[in-house]
Amino acid sequence: MKTKWIRPGESLAEAARLLRAEQVVAFPTETVYGLGAWALSEKAVRAIYEAKGRPSDNPLIVHVSPGMELKTLARDIGETAKRLMDMFWPGPLTLIFEKTDSVPLCTTGGLATVGIRMPANETALKLFSLAGLPVAAPSANLSGRPSPTTALHVLEDMDGRIPCIIDGGPCRVGLESTVLDVTGALPVILRPGAITREMLEKEIGTVRMDPAILPSAAPRETERPKAPGMKYRHYAPRGTMELIQGSDEQMAAYIAEQAASWSRKGITGGLLATQELLDRLRGRLPGGFHIENMGSRHRPDVIASRIFASLRNFDTAGCGLILCEALPETDENTAAMNRLRKAASGRIRTLGTAGAERVRTEDERQ
Ligand code: TXA
Ligand code: MG
Repeated sequence: MKTKWIRPGESLAEAARLLRAEQVVAFPTETVYGLGAWALSEKAVRAIYEAKGRPSDNPLIVHVSPGMELKTLARDIGETAKRLMDMFWPGPLTLIFEKTDSVPLCTTGGLATVGIRMPANETALKLFSLAGLPVAAPSANLSGRPSPTTALHVLEDMDGRIPCIIDGGPCRVGLESTVLDVTGALPVILRPGAITREMLEKEIGTVRMDPAILPSAAPRETERPKAPGMKYRHYAPRGTMELIQGSDEQMAAYIAEQAASWSRKGITGGLLATQELLDRLRGRLPGGFHIENMGSRHRPDVIASRIFASLRNFDTAGCGLILCEALPETDENTAAMNRLRKAASGRIRTLGTAGAERVRTEDERQ
């Protein structure tokens, strides 16, 4: 199949026609690119799973535009949800509701609930209203690869697999939406994103975190994450990645030593680090070592927006071993650290005083 490319500003009529014809279209959002199809058509939704190579028990988020009737998708839209929609929509917040019978089980991965969001991206909203349909969409990567934050990333994974990609430029946020379950007595964050716990609590009071996403949770936690998609190997570059934490000098010394040793062994090494740590490493790294700059520690938003592109760049550069600076576990860094821990399959090395270094690995923790 030939994949049509729609440039920024070009007409979306053909893409809207494809959606109405139960076909798959990749579109930009403020978070990551989505792989969209008509949410209420089983045939269309099956085409998404097929293109993505995703297991079909993984529920999709249904995307809507202003004016679409939510009552046809969700039951019991309570006061809390209304308040959150007023405050954060359009924006990177997905709300989980009880679903209506109109939403097919293949859209929700067999669940009785449905995730709904209104993205803050004009191209996406225009596409949905032109098509006049709610659009189910996962991130537009092949299953297991980092989520795409540019249309070229989508092309890398989906060329020839889908009929159309809409180029809307780089995604502003760069990490997927916060997923919030509002079906119970207390709202629960199932996936952290740019709308943080503190932002939510300011509006609606106490919000819980699904234990499976806490920093202490082991990657193979016996506890099943409530957002089924969170259990898959995600975001990981092909090389083995390890997170490191410690003082700047401890991290710099460790990185310089590892990079030199890999270089001697002919291994292409990589590093994902903040500008501050890279400043300290200037002149201390061997040639051929691949560096990805996350940006300044003072700009958690910029850091978040660069992570997925950097993970893809490690693959392009052929990095076999990768080190990544761990970020402080602040409210603003929660989503970024959640994705980085997954990319590193939970490997975190705490650099201590000489000899007291600790590594927690999947193996140790199973
Ligand atoms: O920012 C985003 O949310 C992007 C863009 C394209 O909108 N979409 C996205 O979709 O990240 P996806 O399919 O890659 O991730 C959806 C996440 C998964 O972890 C899934 O398990 C969870 O949301 N989810 C969806 N519906 C759910 C439901 N009914 N109950 C629990 N979790 C749900
Ligand atoms: Mg995804």
